[in-house]
Amino acid sequence: MNIFNILFSSLIFSFILFHLNALNVTHDSRSIINDGTHRIILSGSIHYPRSTAQMWSDLIRKAKEGGLDAVETYVQYDFSGNLDLIRFLKTIQDQGLYAILRISPYTCAEWNYGVSLRTKNDVFMNEMKNFTTLIVDMVKKEKLFASQRGNIILAQVENEYGNINWCAQMADSLNIGVPWIMCQQAAPPEPMLETCNGWYCDEYKPKDPNTPKMWTENWTGWKFKPTKMGHLKQLHDVLHSIEYTLTNGDVKNEKLNNLVMATIYQTKEKSSCFLSNTNTKIDANVNFGGISYFVPVSTQTSLMVKKLNKAEDEPSSLKWTWRPELIESASVQGRRDISVNKIVDQKDMANDVSDYLWYMTSIDVAKDDPMLNGTVTLRVNDTSHVLHAFFNGEYIGSQWSKYGDNNVTYVFEKNIKLSLRKNLISLLRLSLNYGPMFDLVGAGITSPIELVLSKNIIKDLSSNKWTYKVGLNGISNKFFDTNCASKSSSNWVSDPIPVDRNFTWYKTTFKAPLGNKPVVVDLLGLGKGMAWVNGHSLGRYWPSYIANKKLCKTETCDYRGRYSDSKCVSKCSEPTQRWYHVPRSFLKDGENTLVLFEEFGGNPSAVQFQTVEIGSICINTHEGKEVKLSCQDRPISKIKFASFECVGKESCSFKITEDKFGKPSCEIKKLAVEAVCKDITF
Ligand SMILES: *[C@@H]1O[C@H](CO)[C@@H](O)[C@H](O)[C@H]1NC(C)=O
Ligand SMILES: *[C@@H]1O[C@H](CO)[C@@H](O)[C@H](O)[C@H]1NC(C)=O
Ligand SMILES: *[C@@H]1O[C@H](CO)[C@@H](O)[C@H](O)[C@H]1NC(C)=O
Ligand SMILES: *[C@@H]1O[C@H](CO)[C@@H](O)[C@H](O)[C@H]1NC(C)=O
Ligand SMILES: *[C@@H]1O[C@H](CO)[C@@H](O)[C@H](O)[C@H]1NC(C)=O
Ligand SMILES: *[C@@H]1O[C@H](CO)[C@@H](O)[C@H](O)[C@H]1NC(C)=O
Ligand SMILES: *[C@@H]1O[C@H](CO)[C@@H](O)[C@H](O)[C@H]1NC(C)=O
Repeated sequence: MNIFNILFSSLIFSFILFHLNALNVTHDSRSIINDGTHRIILSGSIHYPRSTAQMWSDLIRKAKEGGLDAVETYVQYDFSGNLDLIRFLKTIQDQGLYAILRISPYTCAEWNYGVSLRTKNDVFMNEMKNFTTLIVDMVKKEKLFASQRGNIILAQVENEYGNINWCAQMADSLNIGVPWIMCQQAAPPEPMLETCNGWYCDEYKPKDPNTPKMWTENWTGWKFKPTKMGHLKQLHDVLHSIEYTLTNGDVKNEKLNNLVMATIYQTKEKSSCFLSNTNTKIDANVNFGGISYFVPVSTQTSLMVKKLNKAEDEPSSLKWTWRPELIESASVQGRRDISVNKIVDQKDMANDVSDYLWYMTSIDVAKDDPMLNGTVTLRVNDTSHVLHAFFNGEYIGSQWSKYGDNNVTYVFEKNIKLSLRKNLISLLRLSLNYGPMFDLVGAGITSPIELVLSKNIIKDLSSNKWTYKVGLNGISNKFFDTNCASKSSSNWVSDPIPVDRNFTWYKTTFKAPLGNKPVVVDLLGLGKGMAWVNGHSLGRYWPSYIANKKLCKTETCDYRGRYSDSKCVSKCSEPTQRWYHVPRSFLKDGENTLVLFEEFGGNPSAVQFQTVEIGSICINTHEGKEVKLSCQDRPISKIKFASFECVGKESCSFKITEDKFGKPSCEIKKLAVEAVCKDITF
């Protein structure tokens, strides 16, 4: 069969799966029902705006290989380029997977803004209706709902918000032909189906007895998703293999001892069971159906290794040029700046256009002003995040809140010496815009801003004329845009490269690493700032932000038992992040350009481009169990801890000791998988 044939037959396959008939998606208390068949839908989330359109099909393929049935996604209100929702949905469809469309309009997902802008008010309600209708119409036009022979089997309205009847009615009136879901709600009105978002949803029960138990989000946007696909694939395969008994069988629980419970699903033909051990530390020995089981803890961890893979003619270190960022002062104000006689909330002023906002004011000091000859303290009250202060064009200091608490205020204080007549105060404020109550607690500098000479001699500058400038000069003038480079290339200086200099732009060129493995840029040595490759933003970086060393309490990782974010904390005292993904589609043959804006001061000389691949796998297991090793598409090169016949294979299985069990009523493999993931009991 030639390539064309293969492609052609896979197209036929997805065509048959989704286009021949409309799918009748309903539900009962046990599960979603597709054309009369109870289904367990295993879904993974891909936030498409976080990746390039070129990466989508590979990400979806991996989801499918990992045993998933569906991909769920949020929706962005912008459909250009990497935000092409319809293209994303069709890519899912082409791979033969279902889609779950979380229209919201609110996407939490740890992007800017947050929780409580969505109150019941006409402005928001109208916008929400408009938005939801727009998305539904777009999707209907492309016939993507399962009711139209498409692949969308569920749609979500709202996200992790209260029980809002009006938005349920509004959604229902759009007649999409597949069920609507609402997550983390008090019982939503019919016909909305209630679902759960959270780390664990094992103890969750929908309030409506006719709603099946659905877990729609494991807070995926927050986490580094480790490469545990091999392990999860086995779990998914097991769940699929017992789908019928799980969705049709009678259920009963049998207590085996104080901590271990067997949950048995029984139909006329078959039974399946789960053993769950609620002890947080000790593995269990249990007797079940006359057979004793040692419930093992067996995990496979893949380590990602980074390699240089440099093009042959690439020099060993990158050559840099640099230029300073313009430090604003009241004398360099642009036409579009806004002046007001008060301190304005940063969200209102910057309107999410930029993280950066300048606050600038000038103070006239008269000859007889007592502040003239004394030491004066500039005192700024701030709602945390990052503040840099300048006095008469000179940097005088910075402050930011540590470890992410954004419902705190701090006071920045610095001594200054005022000059006769005009003095300029410029404050550069950076807002990282996420956190609980973000919209309620306010952002930016708050009143009062004061000059303090003594307890009794204080000047409040809050009602001075403040000039606001949104963003940075280099960003407005696109220093990162390689198309503009020729225009301003003379402004980039090659020698010497300053180190630890704040508010500095750096630029270099590089060749794409060889091969097709994912590329990262290692920014260790830099402080904090933003990065671009060939004009495409890689986002913010902050490798000088060191993970709190007090948080790492134990060497081992054990997530069993109640979830707590203090479990499995690792890499304390190390940068919270130093490698940043550079999508291959940003790169071209020949010369590529990397531009950095360094805000805190750093040294770019160690910056490197690397490729990432799976390096080695570690197994923890107990006697009597079969373990399976897999390096995904790479052969196993070395077995370090034992000599089994795995070297050279892409995957292999073996038993740790001889099988000492008789014919079990529940298959061992299923038990092993379930024992590890005991939180998945239905
Ligand atoms: C869809 O399936 C349900 C039962 O699950 C049935 O009651 C309904 O009539 C079906 N609808 C269509 C259009 O076939
Ligand atoms: C949404 O509102 C805009 C302008 O307010 C209007 O042009 C558009 O037709 C509306 N879209 C829908 C789907 O209601
Ligand atoms: C949910 O996420 C947590 C933390 O990453 C993980 O330990 C747990 O296994 C996840 N649950 C499932 C069923 O994937
Ligand atoms: C500040 O010092 C200058 C020169 O030393 C003096 O002329 C002036 O009167 C002083 N002003 C005040 C307010 O003390
Ligand atoms: C900051 O300003 C607010 C409002 O004026 C005030 O309530 C608060 O106490 C100030 N914070 C500090 C730490 O002084
Ligand atoms: C912020 O924290 C204070 C206590 O530190 C608390 O009283 C207040 O309610 C919090 N505000 C919000 C909006 O969460
Ligand atoms: C650069 O900024 C950092 C924090 O913003 C500050 O600690 C440091 O003193 C500054 N360095 C210089 C040279 O201005």
